[in-house]
Amino acid sequence: MTLYSKIIGTGSYLPPKRVTNQDLTDQLAAKGIETSDEWIVTRSGISARHYAEPEQKSSDLAVHAAKNALEMASLQPNDIDLIIVASSTPDFFGSFPSTACIVQRKLGITNNGAAVDVQAVCSGFVYAVSVADSFIRSGAHKNVLVIGAEVFSRILNFDDRGTCVLFGDGAGAIVLTASETPGILATKLHADGRHADVLSIPGNVDGGAIAGSGFLYMDGPAVFKLAVSVLEKVAHEALDKAGMTPDQLDWLIPHQANIRIMNSTAKKLGMPPEKMVVTVDQHGNTSAASIPLALDIAMRDGRIKPGQNVMMEGVGGGFTWGAVLARM
Ligand code: UT7
Repeated sequence: MTLYSKIIGTGSYLPPKRVTNQDLTDQLAAKGIETSDEWIVTRSGISARHYAEPEQKSSDLAVHAAKNALEMASLQPNDIDLIIVASSTPDFFGSFPSTACIVQRKLGITNNGAAVDVQAVCSGFVYAVSVADSFIRSGAHKNVLVIGAEVFSRILNFDDRGTCVLFGDGAGAIVLTASETPGILATKLHADGRHADVLSIPGNVDGGAIAGSGFLYMDGPAVFKLAVSVLEKVAHEALDKAGMTPDQLDWLIPHQANIRIMNSTAKKLGMPPEKMVVTVDQHGNTSAASIPLALDIAMRDGRIKPGQNVMMEGVGGGFTWGAVLARM
């Protein structure tokens, strides 16, 4: 019997505080920094994003999303035997203890299942799903909670107009379970560390203090070029592994960073815009949370239906990229 992993629940959470482009334009203008709704929308497709309250950590957002996913899956927290959290804004420095362990505690799970964080920046969710899929297919774990959760507002430099307008906070989660029917059809992951410098937080902790910078740095145009060059290819690699072609895809859910990158990817794959799930306009770039957030929204509004084929694609710092092809 072939064992597959199957998505049986999705969930998401956005913190209530919504920040529009005009809000940011006014905030930056007070410091003498010029931006505009027109620039942000034209260059990125973003109109608004959400920011967590000071007391909200990634694990808090993650727990909201996880509870929604568990409810859809009709599972109890203690049914989960592995939690994987993808985040670049973990609750603690160095992800220590892991945000996954904090999520396990906050969900009240006492079954001694495993919990671990995965770090692949904006590709974190597709990396985490790929890891979960391998664990399930090997028989090591049965019910896995995969979460992307971020509070990127904490690492934004509001003196850098080239980055601070792009990112937002949120969380998305899925429950994957062992199944005799597919399921995750294929995954493909890549990294190229030669481009590690184009997107980073160029600092570390030394003697208990930050050495370097604690703010996100991004060479936007360099990341843009890398992103458009890899996303079509990795989608084809995942399709090839599954013995499928792009015309068999019902939905494309790319990482929600920039509508121009997303449109370019859809066009190269020959997919019409209406087959792509877009949330970047309302969420901004929520890094590892962007794909599961978009997936959950399209599941709950009825666009994505059981049996449909969904291509999820991540790309981001590292440089990392990857694809997950799933049958819902
Ligand atoms: O999540 C990981 C993956 N991340 C991404 O995929 C992001 C990839 N990169 C991008 O999405 C785009 O590169 C950006 C949206 C970040 C920038 O768009 P761009 O078309 O590459 O613009 P640019 O950085 O080349 O900047 C063009 C101009 C510059 O002015 P000059 O030098 O032409 O006079 C910037 O200083 O726009 C200026 N600019 C701004 N103007 C108004 C940069 N940020 C702003 C701003 N408001 N917020």
